Amino acid sequence: MKAYHLNSHAGAGRLARADVNKPEPASGEVRIRVEAASLNYRDLITLDRAGQNELNGRVPLSDGAGVVDAIGSDVVKWRPGDRVAASFFRDWISGPFKSSYVPSSLGGNATDGMLAEYVVLPANALVAVPQHLSSVEAATLPCAGVTAFHGLVVRGGMGKGDMLLVQGTGGVALFGLQFAAALGARAIVISSSDEKLARAKALGGSILINYRDTPDWDVDLMKATHGEGASHILELGGPGTYDRSLRSVASGGKIVQVGVLTGFGPKPDLSRLQWENADIIGVTVGSLDHFTAMNRFLTEHAIHPVIDRVFGFDEVPEAYAHLRSGAHFGKVVVRL
Ligand SMILES: NC(=O)c1ccc[n+]([C@@H]2O[C@H](COP(=O)([O-])OP(=O)(O)OC[C@H]3O[C@@H](n4cnc5c(N)ncnc54)[C@H](OP(=O)(O)O)[C@@H]3O)[C@@H](O)[C@H]2O)c1
Repeated sequence: MKAYHLNSHAGAGRLARADVNKPEPASGEVRIRVEAASLNYRDLITLDRAGQNELNGRVPLSDGAGVVDAIGSDVVKWRPGDRVAASFFRDWISGPFKSSYVPSSLGGNATDGMLAEYVVLPANALVAVPQHLSSVEAATLPCAGVTAFHGLVVRGGMGKGDMLLVQGTGGVALFGLQFAAALGARAIVISSSDEKLARAKALGGSILINYRDTPDWDVDLMKATHGEGASHILELGGPGTYDRSLRSVASGGKIVQVGVLTGFGPKPDLSRLQWENADIIGVTVGSLDHFTAMNRFLTEHAIHPVIDRVFGFDEVPEAYAHLRSGAHFGKVVVRL
């Protein structure tokens, strides 16, 4: 079968095409014929670290969906032909997060990801694909979708009358925007592009700010919300946005701390949290239970993920370059 491997010797792209044996499912495992895989910002960070030993030869990408192709003994949950997607953390099924789950993240340091024609995973690390979604759409869900749902809906309790701020128009941000619209919450979108803001308006964005033209976007946000601010903030920027997020949070609001788009390790002045009785919710993607709950929500609200562009299996380096360019609106997908 065909697969991609991270390989620091594969030139500037660091992605090597490989022909390898089709894996066989052992007891309790399922083999999936992957139909689509999607890229996340995390995959750019991983690619940039591909020179590190543990990543050499690793199959990249956490997110993929396809069809069950073979099952090992003792598998009763799935049958060949079932449409499934893999959960980001193979081992985080339910309950609170444990740091011991980290090595089981697909496409990370220690576990192969989804950019292969066939993958084998434990039967209990998969979710059924909602019927109204194609495999290309379902492949966008495991990281970006689950992160936004877990942070904003499960832990953030976002609902009718709330005001969400999303930063940019990438994968996580647009899932957040769609969830807000479905729940009857309003949304503020900041973006580098007026054209993307116009598209975000069509998805339910009601306050639109170009952060290139308006670097002090927190000031405009406060004016536009009559001094109230945002009840929920999807903090995606990190050091470059965190202080402005803190200045934008409403009384009793929640900052869902997710992103590193401007780097790692923000050192914000947290004093305003106390005066506003506001909270920070730290999120690393989510569990299989979060994924299952999100799929019910997607079905109930007939939500389709926003797909920016679908690349072929031969165009994987171009797909990475497209994500890195920041030109995308929503998700970048590879069809296998
Ligand atoms: N903690 C977790 O579990 C978790 C899970 C998923 C993602 N993440 C993180 O969340 C972030 C978003 O991930 P993603 O996969 O959705 O990324 P993505 O699809 O690549 O989105 C990138 C977009 O973010 C916007 N952006 C970039 N710099 C910005 C800035 N300074 N201010 C506001 N917006 C900015 C741009 O949108 P415009 O062109 O519209 O400006 C850009 O196109 C990343 O840092 C990722 O590592 C964390």
